[in-house]
Parts: sequence; C-alpha cells; structure tokens
Amino acid sequence: MLDNILRQVDASRDRAVDRLFDFLRIPSVSTHPHNKPDVDRCAEWLAHQLRGLDLQAQVHPTALHPVVLARNAHRPGRPTVLVYGHYDVQPPEPLELWTTPPFGPAIRNGAIHARGSADDKGQVWAHVEAIRAWQQGGGERTDGGGLPVNLVFVIEGEEEIGSPSFAAFMQEHSEELKADVAVISDTNQFARGLPAITYGLRGLVYEEILLTGPSHDLHSGLFGGVVANPANVLCELIASLHDADGRVNIPGFYDDVVPLELRERELWAKLPFSESDLMRELDLSSLAGEKGYSALEREWVRPTCDVNGITTGFQGEGAKTVIPSKASAKVSMRLVPNQNPQKIRELFEKAIRDRCPAGVSVEFRNHSMAEAMLVPLGSKAMELAADALRIGFGQEPTFMRGGGSIPVATLISRMLGVETLLVGFGLPDDRAHSPNEKFDLAAFHGGTRTCAALYAKLAGL
Ligand code: BES
Ligand code: MN
Ligand code: MN
Repeated sequence: MLDNILRQVDASRDRAVDRLFDFLRIPSVSTHPHNKPDVDRCAEWLAHQLRGLDLQAQVHPTALHPVVLARNAHRPGRPTVLVYGHYDVQPPEPLELWTTPPFGPAIRNGAIHARGSADDKGQVWAHVEAIRAWQQGGGERTDGGGLPVNLVFVIEGEEEIGSPSFAAFMQEHSEELKADVAVISDTNQFARGLPAITYGLRGLVYEEILLTGPSHDLHSGLFGGVVANPANVLCELIASLHDADGRVNIPGFYDDVVPLELRERELWAKLPFSESDLMRELDLSSLAGEKGYSALEREWVRPTCDVNGITTGFQGEGAKTVIPSKASAKVSMRLVPNQNPQKIRELFEKAIRDRCPAGVSVEFRNHSMAEAMLVPLGSKAMELAADALRIGFGQEPTFMRGGGSIPVATLISRMLGVETLLVGFGLPDDRAHSPNEKFDLAAFHGGTRTCAALYAKLAGL
C-alpha cells in the first residue's frame, strides 16, 4: 500500500510545486498590521484546499490571527496524529536584497525561492501533498478518506510573533485536539542528504529596552557633555551584557543551565559539521561565541543574549548634530532546558536597571517568551519517525537539537499530554528569516514522501 502512495507522490512532484506556489503567493506576514487581510485570506485559502482533500476544515478566529483546524473522518481503534505547522511568515524586508520577489515564487538552482518556502509553508505543504497522495493513490476511499490514521491538522498564523493566541485556542478546542502523538514539521535536516529528528529546541525571551533622557532632542554642541546621552548609555548597557569569554554577564543567568552531557558531546562530535564551511558560506574569517564550546554546542545547548535591532538618534544621510532624547534596543535571549523564561526576564531587567545611570530612565517591553524543549530519545514513536525519514529520503536519519524556538512545542506536549516529534525538512542554508529564503526541491519531495510514510508508520502505534 505505502509503495503505491509513494509512487503517487513521485508522479505528482511538479503539480505539487505548482500548488505550493499558490500558497507562497499570499503575503501572510503576521507581524505587519497592513498584511492582516492577507493573513486572513491565507487561512481561508488553506482551509479551502484541505476541504478539497475530503478533510473537514474550519478557520477559527482568535484574538489576532486565525487558526486552521482540519480533520479526516476519524475511526475508532486507530491512533490520532496531530500535525502542527504555521502559515504565517516573517516580514520580507529589506526587499531590495531579493533576487526575485519574496511573494513571486521562482525556481533557481534546484530550489524554490520565496518568503515562507522553508519556514514553514513548504513543510506544511509536504503534509498536504502526502494527504492528497493517500486520498488519491490507492487509499480505500471508504476507509476514513484514505488516510491510515486519524488526523488532526492544526496550522496557525501567529508562530512568527510568538503564538500569543495559541494557548487560549488549545483550551477552547481541547476536545477536538485530543491525540496520541503530535508531529511538528518546522525544523531542519542536519545537512543536505542527512535528514534528522530534532529532539531539543532552545527557548526564548525577547525584550525591548527603552531609554529616555532629555524631554526632546538637543543640540549636541550646546548640551554635549552636560547631559547623559541615551544612545551612549544604551551602547554601554549592551556592551556590559557579555564578558571577555563570551559568557552572558547577567547575574544568575546560568544558575539553572544543565551541563552538557559527555554522551551528547561525543555524539555530536561525529556529525559531519565543518566550521570552516560555515565561515565560507557566511563570508566570515572567524566564528565567535562562548569560550570552551564548539559551534554546534553553542547553537544547541548554550544560552545566548543578542541584540536584534537598535533605534536611536539621527539615521538619515549626512550629519545632524543632535543628542537623542530616546534610545531603544530589541534583545533576544535563547534559553536551554531548565531555564525559566519568566525568571530570565526578571534577571535581565534587574541587571539593566541596576546598571542604568542617573539622568536616563528605563522601561521594558516583552515581546515573547518560550520554554526550551527536550524530548527523550528512543521512544517507539521516534523510531517510527526515523523509519519514515529513511523511506522518505533513502538516507539514515540523525538525531540532533536545534537552536531556534517553537513557542507552542512544549505547550502542545503538556496540554495534550503526548509525545511531540519534531520532523522537519529545512536546510541550514535556506536563509529562513532572511532575503532569498529558499526550500530545496529535493527537501520538499523527500519531505512529502516522509510525511506519507509517517502516517503509515504511526498507524502502528
Ligand atoms: N521554524 C522556526 C524555528 C526553528 C527553525 C527551530 C529551525 C529549529 C530549527 C520558527 O518559525 C521560528 O523562527 N521561531 C521563532 C520564534 C519567535 C518568533 C517567537 C524563532 O526561533 O526566532
Ligand atoms: Mn517556522
Ligand atoms: Mn520562523
């Protein structure tokens, strides 16, 4: 049976790409208020597509962006698989750096180029095409619509802004979301030709620091040296956040960090990772970070603190002699398992407040918080997912952690009380969140085959 389905996936490769293109044309940028109609349209479009596959699909409004919830006809005695993904995308700016328009998908060098191609529309669409293949390719139509499992398909529209509405959505729909296992396809493969199951993710605290000095911008000649300059102060505060060894200089920051196990260290040392290849790809002559850890270790199991943006003072062309009244910075801290986001947020705010000199006042705005995730290795479901990757890509999968965050991953495991498998198909060089984001055609195809095989495998749970 699975062979038939996989043949169907292989045979409809090109049409699958065309359909994904329609998805990618919708600029569903969750953070831009002006894209709100596009976000809503994207949810409606997706639900419509799923209805065409014999799924019952609904668009559920939330406080902000809607969630698409779909299911096949469930049959007793079969395991229920919840699949989570997101249809929202990061902003495409700066537009001038794109070779082809972010919402005008194009194929170059064996990859689909568009905003959201890898993160996460392409991965969501791999599931959609796998569902299609089961419905059309030899599946018994009387048999729950052809799929071998009870499927709950949840695709949300706020992942890229921290999923503020998702907990409430889950509470409201807890009955419909009941499942035996959850699958999230929103992560990467280890490398081209090396598919992976991700068993850990970092968490996140994203804070904005807002400094205010004088009530208005001042002439830097008349007032320079007379008042505290919020821009100078901001730079000093930011410079204070790391020590000379690249460690985060916030009292208490590392208190709850679990030391890296030798077993994982040895496992990862065997992975085919080259720091010099990475340097070449990024046009860098050296990497940087916390002393005493390899690049992979720094990405996967060490917490960080990074400025994401700074706003202050005169930004136009030429010169304007001015002491700005205000200065602000957006700072992300990636957390590792056992660090508590709320506690880290408080430690961060306290450290900044304690260091802020007289003459400047400080306020904070929190933009998101997410816990890190760690899934125990070796479960039955994880073995089945590894089988599916083997079938999908014809390669032995590896087990890795990821440096990014999926705010709802731990929420899903905890609220549903189920194991959550992170089975994703992106590649580290996909330029997610950057200009010229792409998704390899081979990743899309292997991913679709993996999803098709995964439903068959999980039916055996
Ligand atoms: N898909 C990513 C997360 C990811 C990518 C995890 C690759 C592991 C490997 C997700 O869409 C993402 O970008 N999350 C944000 C969360 C934030 C906006 C709250 C992140 O990590 O910055
Ligand atoms: Mn994503
Ligand atoms: Mn993302």
